[in-house]
Amino acid sequence: MLFPASATTTEMSEPTEQKPSDHFSDYAFDTKAVHCGWDPFAEPTGAVMPPIYMTSTYVQDGPANPRNGYEYTRTQNPTRFALQDAIAALENGTSAFTCSSGMSAIHTLMLTLKPGDLIVAGRDLYGGSHRLFNQIQARFGLRYQYIDTGDQAALENLPADTRLLYLETPSNPTLCVTDLKVAVATAHKLGAQVAVDNTFATPALQRPLDYGADYVIHSTTKYICGHSDVVGGAIVVNDPKLAETIWFHQNSAGTQNSPFDAFLTLRGLRTLHLRMERHCLNGMRVANFLQDHPEVEKVLYPGLESHPNHAVACAQMEGGFGGMVSFVLPGGVPQATALVNNCKLFVLAESLGGVESLIELPAPMTHASMPPEKRREIGIEDGLVRLSVGIEDTDDLIADLEQSLNASRLD
Ligand SMILES: Cc1ncc(COP(=O)(O)O)c(C=O)c1O
Repeated sequence: MLFPASATTTEMSEPTEQKPSDHFSDYAFDTKAVHCGWDPFAEPTGAVMPPIYMTSTYVQDGPANPRNGYEYTRTQNPTRFALQDAIAALENGTSAFTCSSGMSAIHTLMLTLKPGDLIVAGRDLYGGSHRLFNQIQARFGLRYQYIDTGDQAALENLPADTRLLYLETPSNPTLCVTDLKVAVATAHKLGAQVAVDNTFATPALQRPLDYGADYVIHSTTKYICGHSDVVGGAIVVNDPKLAETIWFHQNSAGTQNSPFDAFLTLRGLRTLHLRMERHCLNGMRVANFLQDHPEVEKVLYPGLESHPNHAVACAQMEGGFGGMVSFVLPGGVPQATALVNNCKLFVLAESLGGVESLIELPAPMTHASMPPEKRREIGIEDGLVRLSVGIEDTDDLIADLEQSLNASRLD
């Protein structure tokens, strides 16, 4: 989609151009993942993979007469467009806008709101989202309220003046699952919009736009890229009017990702379906192993029958429950710290969604920006451990957890 650099929201025309992904609309998800976003037959050189267009600007044939619509890379870049089209196709959206990080995608979405607007958000979101909402955007007049979006009654009682319902499902780090049908129906009845951070599930397992959500958010840093070598984000919509609004705010605020990052992220996305299959398999086996281990107090994984919203997860996630598994150790931070220090294969690091297995403690790490009492209130106990289960051999992963759990046992 080629929006002009100078456009304001009111000046922009409806996007009519055919996108490379349109050729693949009848194909299955796995085929789309491999091909969408780039058409080698339409490229002058026939390049099978998209070149990295490392240019900030483009020659014009006359004043305000850009060649093929390309004016300036903040506004248009072919490598970014390839990634955007591919992500839009996988989420069953019409447009995607890729950003310099997941936070920049969330920030761009919130820029479309105005002072006084009420955003009702899931209470257990990524800690950085809480920080952005409470410490930055609240200063500009946005109002935030937090609810347990895993609780159907709470969802059905959204405040009447809700402007946007913002949630993660499964959420980070407690793996709370929200019923998307209920969320969308209640919000839309009030005239509110719904944004779903789909970072944990990815479109390989769950496509919120199919449930009527208005926006999908991604930290593409995670599974979409999948190799822990790029930071990025995306906003996906399936309504041309919303696309215009997001585009206008992104172009004006300059929150895009670089062509090089777009290239790497698209390269990672080509194997999303295969990686997710293995993440799901390993995640399920690790969750079962932890559930049976005497040192473990509680396991949080949507694929386990013990998960409070297991039935909802079964209904709205296809093909598995992902690679994120959280669990609680009764010995709190000392035991959890001993565990991570004893791991040989699981690497102690923030982030998630890469091919390699990572382990982290939300309380002192990814969710440290939340006040401790708030953390405990929403289930982020001091002994909570979060795993990003990678695609290594499953037995090796379980053996590593077993030896580290045994070595960190409290006597
Ligand atoms: C669910 C979720 N959303 C958004 C973000 C922010 O993404 P980024 O780190 O790419 O800015 C994260 C980061 O961990 C996340 O886990």
